[in-house]
Amino acid sequence: MSERVQLIMLPGPTMVPPRVLRAMAKPIINHRGPEFKELYLGVIEKSKKVFMTKGDLFILSCSGTGGVECAISNAIGPGEKVIIPVNGVFSQRVKRTVEIFGGKPVEIPVEWGSSVTVDAVEDAIKKEPDAKALAIVYNETSTGAKVKCMAELGELCDEKGLLYIVDAISILGGDELPVDDWKVDICITGSQKCLMSPPGLALLSISEKAWSAIERTNRAVYFDLKAYRDYLKEGETPFTPAIPLFYALDEALDMILEEGMEARIERHRRCANAIYKALEAIGLEMFAKEEFRSNTVIGVRDPKGIDGNMIRRIMREKYNVVIAGGMGKLKGTMFRIGSMGNVSMADILITISALEGALQELGYEFDRGAGVVAANEAFKS
Ligand SMILES: Cc1ncc(COP(=O)(O)O)c(C=O)c1O
Repeated sequence: MSERVQLIMLPGPTMVPPRVLRAMAKPIINHRGPEFKELYLGVIEKSKKVFMTKGDLFILSCSGTGGVECAISNAIGPGEKVIIPVNGVFSQRVKRTVEIFGGKPVEIPVEWGSSVTVDAVEDAIKKEPDAKALAIVYNETSTGAKVKCMAELGELCDEKGLLYIVDAISILGGDELPVDDWKVDICITGSQKCLMSPPGLALLSISEKAWSAIERTNRAVYFDLKAYRDYLKEGETPFTPAIPLFYALDEALDMILEEGMEARIERHRRCANAIYKALEAIGLEMFAKEEFRSNTVIGVRDPKGIDGNMIRRIMREKYNVVIAGGMGKLKGTMFRIGSMGNVSMADILITISALEGALQELGYEFDRGAGVVAANEAFKS
């Protein structure tokens, strides 16, 4: 296999900065000793700053899906109703998780490429006044559409006594999400996306209200949050943690806090804007409706008569740039560009240039160079 470093523009995993990669090369330590305690407690404190929460926070050695499974299995009791807006593959997965753990999903069907409105959730609560929770995917990675009313939904859940569970796996650290201000009870993310760390860790914040739900259940072993809480008193995790990934996340969090959350969110916004401007200049059509466009995942319809798999293949083989295809029912109809984590202007100009090269080779008619010019202009403004 080639040792050449590819430019990974996926909606996760994302490019890991060399400083973060180097941090993983430190020696393995005793996970029941003082060195890990210092590392773990430090990572938790830094993560709380990124989540903007004063509540509890845990780091699990698993990918994001494990974090979602942990939230649902701990907080939702058998037969309890959970309202779930479904507008893509990841919200379908949340629904399935609720079902498998014995909860009763109440689906709000939402057109893919759009996101749920406050009115739709209010209606659902009126119809199901005994619903226990709202579980929502903030940024639907399969389409590139984000929810625009997260703060309002937090207020609504607070007022109606619902738990507010948020899958923020492809957005936390790259867009606004002040967990306490938005009254999020359980917020989940993964290490490999906006947090620019390698895959393998899930982070979960837990509010006081969430704890009262969790106290009643007893359905998890590996993901037992009460065990995580008990072990945290000693600065430990219940099971052997992925120590090198904790080193990496610790370094990445230092970089994130050095940049500052406001500057970081603004960089993500500028990068996404440049990509959208470039794609429009090339004449491509975004999958998400304009008002719901994500600042971290850009979903693009394959141009008519052009095979999206070939676009991605040429970009990878000729230009060393890796982007993602469609998922679920959208497979073979679109491609997705991740604009997350350590993403920069240079990464975007290279990606757009590679995309233009691939499109030209496949016979798509457009003004070659228009995308790169548009992206450049967007960065200047
Ligand atoms: C919104 C969302 N939820 C869940 C997941 C699953 O995360 P993982 O692949 O880390 O398990 C992803 C991954 O892309 C995601 O984007």
